[in-house]
Amino acid sequence: SIKNIHAREILDSRGFPTIEVEVILATGNFGIAQVPSGASTGSYEAHELRDNDINRYNGKGVLKAVTNIREKITPCLLGMNAFEQKIIDNVMIEIDSSSNKEVLGANAILGVSLAVAKAAAKDLSLPLYRYIGGLSANVMPIPMMNLINGGSHAYNNVDFQEFMIMPIGAESFKEALRWGAEVFHSLGKVLKKRNLMSGVGDEGGYAPNLNSNKEALDLLIEAIETAGYKPGKEISLAMDIASNEFYKCGEYVYDNTSHSAKEFIDYLSKLVGQYPIISIEDSLQEEDWDNWQLCTESLGNLIQLVGDDLFVTNQERLRKGIKKKVANSILIKLNQIGSLTETLDTISLASRNQYNTVISHRSGETEDTTIADLVVAVNSGQIKTGSLCRTERIAKYNRLLRIEEELGQSAIYAPKIGLGPKVP
Ligand code: PGA
Ligand code: ZN
Repeated sequence: SIKNIHAREILDSRGFPTIEVEVILATGNFGIAQVPSGASTGSYEAHELRDNDINRYNGKGVLKAVTNIREKITPCLLGMNAFEQKIIDNVMIEIDSSSNKEVLGANAILGVSLAVAKAAAKDLSLPLYRYIGGLSANVMPIPMMNLINGGSHAYNNVDFQEFMIMPIGAESFKEALRWGAEVFHSLGKVLKKRNLMSGVGDEGGYAPNLNSNKEALDLLIEAIETAGYKPGKEISLAMDIASNEFYKCGEYVYDNTSHSAKEFIDYLSKLVGQYPIISIEDSLQEEDWDNWQLCTESLGNLIQLVGDDLFVTNQERLRKGIKKKVANSILIKLNQIGSLTETLDTISLASRNQYNTVISHRSGETEDTTIADLVVAVNSGQIKTGSLCRTERIAKYNRLLRIEEELGQSAIYAPKIGLGPKVP
C-alpha cells in the first residue's frame, strides 16, 4: 500500500520547471516519475498548472501543483493499494472534478499516476513494460526520428515542425537506431558542406534556415543516400506539420504565402507522390474537421495520417474522428490527458477501431523513460522521441535497447509483423 508521496519542482530539457513525484510503498519499494511539457500544444489538452508568479521562473513555476499533490492528493491516496491503478487515477480525477484537470493540474495528477505504476511494478520485481503490458508485450517500435526541427521548436524560418526518418527496413530496433544515428551524422555533413549548419532545435534535430519546407525533404534524402541507405525501401520519411501554428484566419500560411486548405491538401498529395513519405501528422488545424475529412479521403489510403493536436489523446475527440472518418492514426501523449488509465483507454479505443497509435514524447522532456516502456507494453509499434542527440531524447532510445536485449528471442521489430504505416 502507499505509504508516502513526495513531489518537487525540477527542470525540464528547456530549463523550465516541471514536476517530479516519488511514491513510496509500505514494502519500501518506490517509483519516481517526471512530467514532460509541450510547446505547440493543442487547445483541448488537459490543463498544465503553472504558478503565474512572475517573480519565479517568469511565471512558469509549478509550486501550486506540488502543493496540490501534498495537500489534496496525498491524504486521499495514503494506504491505497498501488496495484489499483484505475481506482487511484479515478480518485484523483474525482478530487479534481473539472473536465480538463485544471483544479489539481494535469501535471500533478500525471506525476502521481506514473509514479504509482512504477512503484507497483517494482513491488512485483517486474519491468514497467511487463507490468503494464502483461505477457503479450514484445513488439519493438519503429523510431520516428526528428532530424530537422522547425515551427515552434526552432528559431529558423521552416514552417513545418518536424521532418523525420523511419528505418522500416531494419531487422531490429537496435539496427534501426544505428541507421538513424548514421543518417543524423550524414545530414550534419550535408548541412556543413552547404554552410547550413546551425545547431539543433528543442527535439535535437538540426534547425537550419531553408528556402522552402520542401528543401528539408531533399536534405533528408541526400543524407539517407550519403549514409548508404535506400530512401523508401530501407528508410522512409514522415512529417509533423503542426499546422495549428501557421493557421491564420482559415488559411495555411507557409513558404511566405497564404494557401486555402484545398491547395494545402493538393500540395501535400504532390509531396507524397514525389517523396517516400509514409506518415503525416496534424496536416490540418485542430478544428478544421471538414478539411481533415477531405485530406483523409485523398491521402488516408496511401499513408498514415496522425492526429495529435486534433485528438489530444482524448477519447471523446478520437470518437468524433472515428465517426467522421478523420485521420487513421493517433499520437499518444500521457500529459495531454493526464493519467495512465485514461491513456491506456484511449490506446485501446484506437486499436479497436484500427487506428494506429504512436507513443510520443513532448518537446520539453526529462530523463524519465516511461514512454519507452509504454510503447512496448501496448505493442503500439511506433515511438516518436526526437533526434539522435540530446540525452532527454537518447534516454528513451537507450531504454529501448535494454528492453530489446531483455526480450531476447521474443522481441519482434514492428515492421516484421506489418505494424506501423503501410509501405508502398
Ligand atoms: P510539443 O510537440 O510537445 O511541443 O507539442 C510535439 C508534437 O507536436 O508532436
Ligand atoms: Zn505533433
